[in-house]
Amino acid sequence: MRLRRKPEAKRILAEHPLVSKATDEYRGKWRTLFPHPYPLHVELGTGKGQFLAKASELHPYINWIGVERIEEPLLQAVRKGEKTENTNLRYIWMDIEKLAEVFAEDEVNRFYLHFSDPWPKTRHAKRRLTHRRFLEVYKKLLAPDGDLILKTDSPVLFEFSLEEFAETGWETIEYSDDLHHSPYREQNITTEYEEKFISRGMPIFYTRVKPQSESHKNN
Ligand SMILES: C[S@@+](CC[C@H](N)C(=O)[O-])C[C@H]1O[C@@H](n2cnc3c(N)ncnc32)[C@H](O)[C@@H]1O
Repeated sequence: MRLRRKPEAKRILAEHPLVSKATDEYRGKWRTLFPHPYPLHVELGTGKGQFLAKASELHPYINWIGVERIEEPLLQAVRKGEKTENTNLRYIWMDIEKLAEVFAEDEVNRFYLHFSDPWPKTRHAKRRLTHRRFLEVYKKLLAPDGDLILKTDSPVLFEFSLEEFAETGWETIEYSDDLHHSPYREQNITTEYEEKFISRGMPIFYTRVKPQSESHKNN
């Protein structure tokens, strides 16, 4: 089933007006793709797109971009986005490894990492999206006042991420080891994975971090 649907998903995404590919065509100009040059918030690993559809509705003065590499979840995300008819929402079909080729320095106001694959084996640590090799890229692409939000169910990924943030010059602005029993739950928008973990009674780890001003762009 999965294999039969894939070519169709590829074809639809390739032609879809809400979807861009990983090119440098809009590098430094992503805001021009939207009706208004509002701040740019980018979700990395959008999956089926529930967060973006809700966020673009609740926050119309932000331009939202979802990055996803796998066709089938991305197509589901795009379908949700279409339904909203929001003009502040787009998707990029690409691997996060190529982020610096697609976005320019200072272009992004906020990155979101929601329930990223934890890669629990130590030998796979370099694949974690909070490994310092990724953090250095995010830091470059963030605007001077930009920040990054991380939510995960994985204690391994959370602990690793906090260490990587601390060792590479990021400052913790918000933190909770149980988001849904913390004051930050008020502003929280749930993702598909998050709802699955909440329904199992699992705590959600949360943090908002930003590059320390003296380390911004320097590392
Ligand atoms: C565990 S899912 C979480 C989806 C969604 N954020 C949520 O919370 O419901 C992780 C998603 O990140 C995507 N992903 C992982 N690594 C990626 C990469 N290097 N580039 C683009 N997408 C990636 C996966 O394809 C998957 O859809």
